Amino acid sequence: MYEIPNLQSSDSKPSAIAVLTSGGDSPGMNPAIRGVVRAALHQGIKVYGVNKGYSGLIIGDMAEMDSASVTNIVQRGGTLLKSDRCLAFKDPAVRYQAAEVLKEKGIEGLVVIGGDGSLTGAHLLTQENDIKVIGLPGTIDNDIYGTDDTIGFDTAVNTALDAIDKIRDTALSHENLFLVEVMGRNSGFIATHVGIACGAEMIIAPEYEIQAESICFQLANNRLQGKGSSGIIVVAEGPKPGLTTHLAKQLNQHQLDPKVCILGHIQRGGSPSGHDRVLASCLGASAVDYLCAGFNDVMIGVRNGKITETPLHQIIEKNKKLDNRLFERAQLLHK
Ligand code: F6P
Repeated sequence: MYEIPNLQSSDSKPSAIAVLTSGGDSPGMNPAIRGVVRAALHQGIKVYGVNKGYSGLIIGDMAEMDSASVTNIVQRGGTLLKSDRCLAFKDPAVRYQAAEVLKEKGIEGLVVIGGDGSLTGAHLLTQENDIKVIGLPGTIDNDIYGTDDTIGFDTAVNTALDAIDKIRDTALSHENLFLVEVMGRNSGFIATHVGIACGAEMIIAPEYEIQAESICFQLANNRLQGKGSSGIIVVAEGPKPGLTTHLAKQLNQHQLDPKVCILGHIQRGGSPSGHDRVLASCLGASAVDYLCAGFNDVMIGVRNGKITETPLHQIIEKNKKLDNRLFERAQLLHK
């Protein structure tokens, strides 16, 4: 459960706001949209849903939402508003255009649900133009500074686990070694959590480089300890999906013949877990509280069970680090 701050509405409470989802989608974006819409209506604020992230914003593709617009979406994966990676938004002239679109409709605040690239766009939009923004951490990767948890991470971990438990059955039957690639661009949060939860023999994360020789050495040691010849190694995708195939080729040169299974976008879909639904709903509603209380240029996340804000510039400047001790613990558990 989350501790929700008791914020008071200020004189600058907006009369109309908009909400969009941006970047890679994540399970829980729908309950987050629902939270924003229902909380805004409760405060007597008009709320617009922008289609296709910043791409839709630039061309004014948005519609006013009412309570019924978000009925029956709390359990649905993906995002009702659709999402996009909008490279054009890197251009200040395009951001100016987006701000003009919002102003023309009398919209004073924008809630952006997305990952670090999307939150960077939100920060620049408010720095350069007279539009208030609130960010929410929406990504399965959990790689955002200022929050312990991101919307979609828990579901993605469970989706990967579901698949790996099945892979484990066939790995055991055939005494196969599997390299299972999970998402998490440049970050090992998904890999570490999934690795611990599925009892992986080894976890390979971009934060901790490891050579093919060391992998073989470790596996040989495990075999000597009578751990059987099947196994699951969870590999974080790193900078580019599919690199696990390359790792398998390196292992081939050391007389190992692992099978590769790339879980890919399956991890981004599916019904959000109960945890993600609660997190997203609370963050969505809190985004409106923060706008009403006069906050701007912050992301709302959760730290130590408390809903709290972090300036967007910090989110851009600082990296969230994978906990060393958690990673070490994971290694210890499958020794
Ligand atoms: O949303 C983040 C993420 O899930 C990364 O883990 C992954 O590398 C990336 O999206 C892939 O997204 P796309 O195929 O949409 O570019």
